[in-house]
Amino acid sequence: PHDLRELAHKLRVYIGSTVDVTALADEADYRKVLNREFSHVTAENAMKWESVEPQRGVYTWDGADAVVKNAQRNGQNVRGHTLIWHNQLPVWLTEGVADGSIDAKELRKILREHIMTEVGRYRGKVRAWDVVNEVVDDEGNMRQSIWMTNLGPGYIADAFRWAHQADPHAKLYINDYNLEWNTAKINTTLGIVKDLQSKRVPIHGIGFQGHLGIQYDYPGDFPNVMRQFTDRGLEAAITEADVRMVLPVTPEKLATQAAYYQRMLSTCAANPRCAEFTVWGFTDRHSWVPGVFAGEGAACIMDENLAHKPAYDALLGVR
Ligand code: XIL
Repeated sequence: PHDLRELAHKLRVYIGSTVDVTALADEADYRKVLNREFSHVTAENAMKWESVEPQRGVYTWDGADAVVKNAQRNGQNVRGHTLIWHNQLPVWLTEGVADGSIDAKELRKILREHIMTEVGRYRGKVRAWDVVNEVVDDEGNMRQSIWMTNLGPGYIADAFRWAHQADPHAKLYINDYNLEWNTAKINTTLGIVKDLQSKRVPIHGIGFQGHLGIQYDYPGDFPNVMRQFTDRGLEAAITEADVRMVLPVTPEKLATQAAYYQRMLSTCAANPRCAEFTVWGFTDRHSWVPGVFAGEGAACIMDENLAHKPAYDALLGVR
């Protein structure tokens, strides 16, 4: 294969990237590579709650619409990210809950409204939704978010049912980080899936974020972990792959990074139920890593100038 689109076709795995809406609008080279290489896209921030409803009842769809329109013009599927998360919530919502002006009954109504509105707007245009993101903490407990503390664990089933009502054809996912290897998180998440399935709640997919770093061992058990979920009939996706490193960049580190990327995509390609491999940014020019992990960076498959790094070539070698 010459590029990631050809590779995706050959592997029968969608290969995706996040979209930075500012770069999409302002940078022709970014846009060109995004649309040439990728058959799937995820809005990096534009579909999050704070982006789409910054004031209560005031919806701003410009960024999200731009991602979806660009995808339709370029034959790309869309992952909707994300309906329920504990981060990037609008201030009116978190403050309303904190000061008691939004009580539990009201909060549940707001959540339903949010899901029906956003999923409904993109009905038929979003292949898969991250319905819940990061709902289990690293100790394997249910994360004590405003959703959990005010609504109890039943909010998860409610959310999947509402999303299914709003778009019966979208694949509905539970998505998390460290799920490639963290046993406590894996077991709790499997428990959630089993519980939802036993109640006939429409859950269709398991998302592994895939944020790795070469200073940590590669999560060698990942293929088995993925299988534990797909054996329950779920589709799988690697939804936010990136492989960061402690700077400076060296040829050795780039080689290790390439191997990590290759193993992740191979894990997806080898599991017949793994449908999508999406990178969290395709270029080091636009990556969340340097802003969040001090001293780290260079996590993507292309450099700042969009030149292919060894990781890009390693992906092309997956069979
Ligand atoms: C990150 C974005 O990349 C940043 O631009 C933003 O400032 C914070 O969120 N897990 C997720 C993503 O599910 O939504 C996060 O995205 C990265 C970690």
